Amino acid sequence: MDRETAFWNKHADKYARRPISDEAAYQKKLEATRKYFQPDMEVLEIGCGTGMTAIAHAPFVGHIRATDLSPRMVEIAKDKAKAAGIDNVTFEALSVDALEVPGASIDVVMAHSVLHLLEDKERAIADIHNMLKPGGVFVTSTACIGDMMLPIRLIVPVGRFLRLFPPVKVFSVAELKDSLESAGFEIDYEWQPKKSAAAFIICRKR
Ligand SMILES: C[S@@+](CC[C@H](N)C(=O)[O-])C[C@H]1O[C@@H](n2cnc3c(N)ncnc32)[C@H](O)[C@@H]1O
Repeated sequence: MDRETAFWNKHADKYARRPISDEAAYQKKLEATRKYFQPDMEVLEIGCGTGMTAIAHAPFVGHIRATDLSPRMVEIAKDKAKAAGIDNVTFEALSVDALEVPGASIDVVMAHSVLHLLEDKERAIADIHNMLKPGGVFVTSTACIGDMMLPIRLIVPVGRFLRLFPPVKVFSVAELKDSLESAGFEIDYEWQPKKSAAAFIICRKR
């Protein structure tokens, strides 16, 4: 098992118990996302964690394929979906690099708190663009560490060294938007509750 999978497996149970840090902001993001849903839509989630967002959105779409690198995260997500009586979400333990999705086959892709964890986010964004139908939508909430205060940026490598953090990539909101636009997305909605919070972006395949 690679280091990242082991890290997330180890933290999965604690992650599942952790309360949402800003419930009002989370609910606002769910509402904003649902404006783009139709009842027959096919949705893909990358880095679904313990399935909270997929389960919350399931009643509003046709089907969600929810994927995550960590088998333990997926196990917890499956149990939560079963307990909630949700049967239109398929969970899979799969790294984004191993995803095989036919081109132009997905209506909406979601990737929350995960783009900054990827070795090659540009490749992931290009793949997401390819798998979306024309006019399809990509929704992401992403920690843009490049815009955070210097002490936070300095804590990241130390935390990584101590194995308290996963490997993270440092980029700003402007750089993320540039990556999305360069890949062929048009930004439709963006919101950041505060400067240190994750940037929430909804963009459309041009
Ligand atoms: C911070 S958690 C976010 C989970 C969930 N999206 C949320 O918002 O609560 C990051 C998740 O991304 C997953 N992850 C990390 N690297 C990944 C990769 N290369 N492919 C797929 N999932 C990955 C981890 O296993 C973890 O569940």
